[in-house]
Amino acid sequence: MEEFFIIGGNRLQGEVEIDSAKNSLLPLIACCILIEGQVRLEQAVAYSDVKAMCKIIEHLGGKTWWEGGDLVVDCLALTADDVPNELASCVRASIFCLGPILARNGSVKIAYPGGCDIGLRPIDLHLEGARKLGAKVVEKNGYIYASKQKMEGVDIILSFASVGATENLVMLALAAKGTTRIFGAAKEPEIVDLANFINKAGGNVKGAGSDVIVIEGGKKLHGISYKPIPDRIEAGTFLIAGAMCGGEIAVKGAKEEHNRELFAKLSKTACQIRCENDTIILSRKQKLKSFGEIETGVYPAFPTDLQSQMTALACVCEGYSLIIENVFEARNKHICGLKKLGGELISKNGIIIAKGKEKLFGAQVSATDLRGGAALVLAGLVSEGYTTVDNIHYIDRGYYKLEDKFSALGGIVKRVKSEKKEGNCMG
Ligand code: UD1
Repeated sequence: MEEFFIIGGNRLQGEVEIDSAKNSLLPLIACCILIEGQVRLEQAVAYSDVKAMCKIIEHLGGKTWWEGGDLVVDCLALTADDVPNELASCVRASIFCLGPILARNGSVKIAYPGGCDIGLRPIDLHLEGARKLGAKVVEKNGYIYASKQKMEGVDIILSFASVGATENLVMLALAAKGTTRIFGAAKEPEIVDLANFINKAGGNVKGAGSDVIVIEGGKKLHGISYKPIPDRIEAGTFLIAGAMCGGEIAVKGAKEEHNRELFAKLSKTACQIRCENDTIILSRKQKLKSFGEIETGVYPAFPTDLQSQMTALACVCEGYSLIIENVFEARNKHICGLKKLGGELISKNGIIIAKGKEKLFGAQVSATDLRGGAALVLAGLVSEGYTTVDNIHYIDRGYYKLEDKFSALGGIVKRVKSEKKEGNCMG
């Protein structure tokens, strides 16, 4: 078991290169199940969630390996159609395999997904959509059993623009005869990325990025080489870190249009942000002021995956900040760690009020989920003295070698052995 040892107080200076998006890579790996051939995911990243998805592919009889920085996934021959509990419980994205396995094999037995504990996270929309497409779905003993006889394109109306349900149903609709239309679809850039991937592989998905996605089923997909989009949440995390620590950082490889809501809020805090080609440059020389208010929502609203990091920022901005979490009802566990570092926060029913302090003070804190863990690292970087963040296996789910990236910017973050015992799951 490892933890981060952080010495706070340094300004950040220099360049950081953004990795491929975790939330693109995970559905893309699942989508490979539909492809009888090799897929090369260019400049993929060995996030622990990615490694967990690779284990699922290998359990199904596929092969995965790394070549240079690329991940190659070969699902030419699959021998199994189940995802057992010990694999599904390690990664939320295991549920993305439901649609592709069902589409490829005609049946699937898949355990309920694990993942960060940030709310109930039901999968009713995934299952309702599968039923609508003609699949028979039974839930029993912690598993979902689904089978299909004849699937036909239909109109599906999502009551909430769930990212995962949209992605799963797009992949499942590829196996349905005729046209499927998903109304109320999620519009996140990762959904556009999945559609681009499918289309490059020979599929026909239109409208991704809008709230109506149209899928022509029955097209056979072939092997391709594909480069996923950059991780907008990693980019956002570094920009928030730059705001908190001061100095000037250049976030390379990020897309400006993916983080507009964040730029608007950071600009209020006395940061200057400018974009040059694929680089976002943030500098702060003056004292931080409150960003006012953020309210999370589905894209293009403020991303829930940056809420925890903004809460850390709010702890050191002059004045009061208001944070409203609308997507996950229990995304508040980072509050405890932030308070331990000296943050002045009140949290109730998804609403957080922060009163900014001059200083935070180093302490021993625990990551309780991926983004909440990142928030504690950011807070540690501005805390007086030293901070340890344990349970960093949560952080490794979606940040790759975070300590190296901060060190290159002048922050002091070291990965050290921890006394605590580790669980079985990688992510
Ligand atoms: C994805 C992202 C995650 C991000 C989230 C919201 C991946 C791998 N993960 O998660 O990082 O925080 O989008 O942007 O891409 N819901 C239901 N029923 C369902 C499905 C979802 O009620 O069948 C609810 C959830 O409980 C939650 C909300 O919808 O309250 C959003 O969930 P969803 O968009 O599905 O998130 P994920 O796909 O799990």
